[in-house]
Amino acid sequence: MKYDFDQLCDRDKTDCLKWDMMESIFGSGDLLPLWVADMDLPVAKPIIDALKKRVEHPFYGYTKPGSSVINSVVERMKRKFNWDISPEWIVFTPGVVPALHVAVRSLTHPGDEVILQEPTYHPFFPVVINSGCKIINNGLKLVNGRYVMDYDGLEEKFHPKTRPLNGPGRIKTIIFCNPHNPVGRLWKRDEIIRMGEIIIDNGAVVISDEIHCEILFKGNKHTPFASISKKFEQNCIVCMSPSKTFNLAGLEVSSIIIPNKKLRENFINTRSGIVPNPNLFGYTAMEAAYRYGDEWLEQVLDYLQENLNYLKNYFEKNIPRIKVIDPEGTYLIWLDCGDLGMDNNVLRSFMRENAKVCLEDGFIFGGSGSGFMRMNIACPRYILSEALKRIEKAVNQL
Ligand SMILES: Cc1ncc(COP(=O)(O)O)c(C=O)c1O
Repeated sequence: MKYDFDQLCDRDKTDCLKWDMMESIFGSGDLLPLWVADMDLPVAKPIIDALKKRVEHPFYGYTKPGSSVINSVVERMKRKFNWDISPEWIVFTPGVVPALHVAVRSLTHPGDEVILQEPTYHPFFPVVINSGCKIINNGLKLVNGRYVMDYDGLEEKFHPKTRPLNGPGRIKTIIFCNPHNPVGRLWKRDEIIRMGEIIIDNGAVVISDEIHCEILFKGNKHTPFASISKKFEQNCIVCMSPSKTFNLAGLEVSSIIIPNKKLRENFINTRSGIVPNPNLFGYTAMEAAYRYGDEWLEQVLDYLQENLNYLKNYFEKNIPRIKVIDPEGTYLIWLDCGDLGMDNNVLRSFMRENAKVCLEDGFIFGGSGSGFMRMNIACPRYILSEALKRIEKAVNQL
């Protein structure tokens, strides 16, 4: 069927974070919300049909995913990424963020160190801090408008000569983000290999957050970290979820894929009694999405590509003082506002009070995000167009 993404589906009074909480969070109901990472595009019909069918069955008791749910994940990994996984590798959690908390705790002791690559998805910071660990920032480098990983920096972080260590090998893991929120890089195979070799050869494990792996712009192909080699497979925890791809964040379901038995057992023991299983409707939605959601997804990806082209063209022609960092994946666009010469607080109030748009502040993704803003373009084009007009008008009035 053909979906119409041009109309705004009214989300008013659904208690959705993005629209209904604007007043309580940002103190203003008249901002256009292009912040939190969900889509203003309605969900695929097969998912709604599957949920309706399940709702009509009047028992909502304790649930354990059966082979059909589990195989929907196994088959999707094979079909989308040619990645062979075993059903027993999968641990289901109600979201990726809780799984990251569990993963870090399962791999570290308080006082250990965890590498992040700023600017990075800001909930990674409390994941490390709340585990009693220390963040070691190996920041991404912006080279000619494109972010790259700092491999020399990564080597150095493990090297005892460059900074005093209390004991050897205190870095236990890295939270790797692929595709990377907020900069939109889809790391290529050779980049993943170079990073992975450094981490694994220094005795650490890679936690690979691949939640955005199916939101890719034309010509890009995702490589799951664990699919690189046996060595990589045995030294990682991969976080997958249908929530970004199929707009199911409120249903809270994700598959944490841990091929190494010992790492998996540690993860399961650490989550036990603290992080529950997903909600039964999450399983239903995930299976329907993975099995029957591709027709919808193809149309969404085309729509997002057109939104991206529209946005790039608009900034280039009408707002050249703001530069778009060209993304390969995610629907989150990283905007370099450095030419406006504003500090973080001024830039925030400029966007909210002058332009009347609500974007994510770049600095919340780490210090190197200062002077940047993150814009969510998963919305009907007229909303995007209105946001761009508002920003253009405000910039012209400076
Ligand atoms: C990189 C990344 N990881 C995790 C999440 C959130 O995951 P969940 O809602 O499943 O906890 C997001 C949401 O934007 C994200 O961008």
